[in-house]
Amino acid sequence: MTESTAEQAETFAPPEQFAATANVGADEYERAEADYLSFWAEQSRDLVDWHEDFGEVLDWTNPPFAKWFVGGRLNVAYNCLDRHVLAGNGDRVAINFEGEPGDSRIFTYAELLAEVSKAANTLTDLGVRAGDRVAIYLPMIPEAMISMLACARLGAAHSVVFGGFSADALRSRIIDAEARVVITADGSYRRAKPTSLKPAVDEALSSGDTPVEHVLVVERTGQDIDMTDGRDQWWHDTVGQASPEHECEFFDSENPLFILYTSGTTGRPKGILHTSGGYLTQVLYSMKAVFDIKPESDVFWCTADVGWVTGHSYVTYGPLAAGVSQIVYEGTPDTPHQGRWWEIVEKYKATILYAAPTAIRTFMKWGEEIPAKYDLSSLRLLGSVGEPINPEAWRWYHRVVGGERCPIVDTWWQTETGAHMIAPLPGVKSTKPGSSQAPIPGISVDVVDDTGENPAGPEGGLLVIRQPWPAMLRGIWKDPERFKDTYWSRFPNTYFAGDGARRDADGDIWFLGRVDDVMNVSGHRLSTAEIESSLVAHSKVAEAAVVGAADETSGQAVVAYCVLKDSRDDDGADLDALVQELRAWVGKEIGPIAKPKHVFIVNELPKTRSGKIMRRLLKDTAEGREVGNTSTLADTSVMDAIARQLRD
Ligand code: PRX
Repeated sequence: MTESTAEQAETFAPPEQFAATANVGADEYERAEADYLSFWAEQSRDLVDWHEDFGEVLDWTNPPFAKWFVGGRLNVAYNCLDRHVLAGNGDRVAINFEGEPGDSRIFTYAELLAEVSKAANTLTDLGVRAGDRVAIYLPMIPEAMISMLACARLGAAHSVVFGGFSADALRSRIIDAEARVVITADGSYRRAKPTSLKPAVDEALSSGDTPVEHVLVVERTGQDIDMTDGRDQWWHDTVGQASPEHECEFFDSENPLFILYTSGTTGRPKGILHTSGGYLTQVLYSMKAVFDIKPESDVFWCTADVGWVTGHSYVTYGPLAAGVSQIVYEGTPDTPHQGRWWEIVEKYKATILYAAPTAIRTFMKWGEEIPAKYDLSSLRLLGSVGEPINPEAWRWYHRVVGGERCPIVDTWWQTETGAHMIAPLPGVKSTKPGSSQAPIPGISVDVVDDTGENPAGPEGGLLVIRQPWPAMLRGIWKDPERFKDTYWSRFPNTYFAGDGARRDADGDIWFLGRVDDVMNVSGHRLSTAEIESSLVAHSKVAEAAVVGAADETSGQAVVAYCVLKDSRDDDGADLDALVQELRAWVGKEIGPIAKPKHVFIVNELPKTRSGKIMRRLLKDTAEGREVGNTSTLADTSVMDAIARQLRD
């Protein structure tokens, strides 16, 4: 059997019952294609509560700077809260929170509205106004979502910084976004131990040259922390005492909603800017079409942290704007035992689970007898996100977790795209293990060759997006040139996503990983350049090259090659200690997720005659492959020497 017929042979038709009640049918593709602007206008008017209707659907007169739903006015937090309460659904559970130590809290929509109103009143007292930025550095606790929504309510943009990032990473993001307030917690629970967060904020602000005036601190663990007079206040003393009434204002469709920093091909993270009306429209449409949300009966669980875009769109904004009940879990999947996720699914009767392939592969390793102990029969739909899902993991997810009755939506999208772009519609498509298949209605993508003009052949090419889309990034914060260069300069008027992809004989899309120097570790995006700059900032390192090497569980693993300044440092027993020191160094500089799995100390790096490091060859070595063509190296013996060193 050829590969493509094998792919075609293994398809999973939507279960009859699912297809019969699906929110969206096959005709939606045609309707959207006939006139994509009218399609999005219709979706937006249907799904979003606009305070003032918009006029023009898309202003694309100054590409690549788009304006969607021009002149419309809305409040995103009102769409997530007030409208559900006003419609009589205030008693519906919005958040089922499950803390790692086993504590739980439930918020109805009415209760969540009261909490967000209190937080909005507090932020107002602290001087936050529409147009300001607030940094949020919190664990996965309800206050993270409450803080995000309080900012949205005030028309201030939030910049959420993942709690696993270091003080340095936090500091550079605070400065770039010019945040006036930081919201943090004393700490959180991870693997049954309290970990601290507030000390990182103190360190980030220690030099006194940031724009931060106030720090709000949520008490989560009760550990001892320093509070700085005049700057730091407890959440319970401020938000806890504030009025639960807050009348919201309405803002322009293009009012900034958030900045989220993500790794690019250079060392400096990019502040991806998202605005209000278009973002909310597409996020809501994906909740309806891809997740098939039935707000009255579903219990949705997206396992991502709010520190990443998946948590923004599918923990905070998507589920709440859709008015569904959801689960928010603070901790790790194996605390206190390896059945924790399945216990949570059983406890809350989750109907939709959205997770990363890395997690699925980890569960596969732990064994299917663990999920088998729990009642997972409430599940009706499964989602995958963040990295390509290998067919074996897909099949396991389908069989063991989904009991062979749940369609799987493999959703491709990015921080930049804001919401799903490529995913099967679960009531329409016959799914294929490992393929994201087709763009959702209203989105137009292509897989092209290097020239950007021709469709790529069977070996694959580059994924591009042909038309503007509502949830598209509106730019890189304070850097319009970098926005143009990064995404719009490779092919004229076309968005270059940075992903390799191919189409099969049915025209379905399969992702092949990044084509640039961005790595994907456990579905988290990391830049080789950022880790390299952190390594060379260490006093003993002269040069560093970092590659993402294929890894069975995490998809890719960070592997670093370092040349030392003083070769005397690299002999004897101290080498192991140095390797550990360098790993810990990266962990401290960027965050534990960026810690290299392996650090190899080598005498030289492979370079071309013009001095460019040939990472491709280092990747071959890291993946245990025969090293590819070395003829363009300035010194062809370097790779032999590296291979010898690694063997030794
Ligand atoms: O390479 C693609 C991969 O993750 C990148 C985007 O990373 P980030 O902005 O952190 O957002 C992750 C969550 C949306 C993409 O360029 N990626 C994401 N989803 C998939 C994927 N690769 C293959 N299949 C997916 N479903």
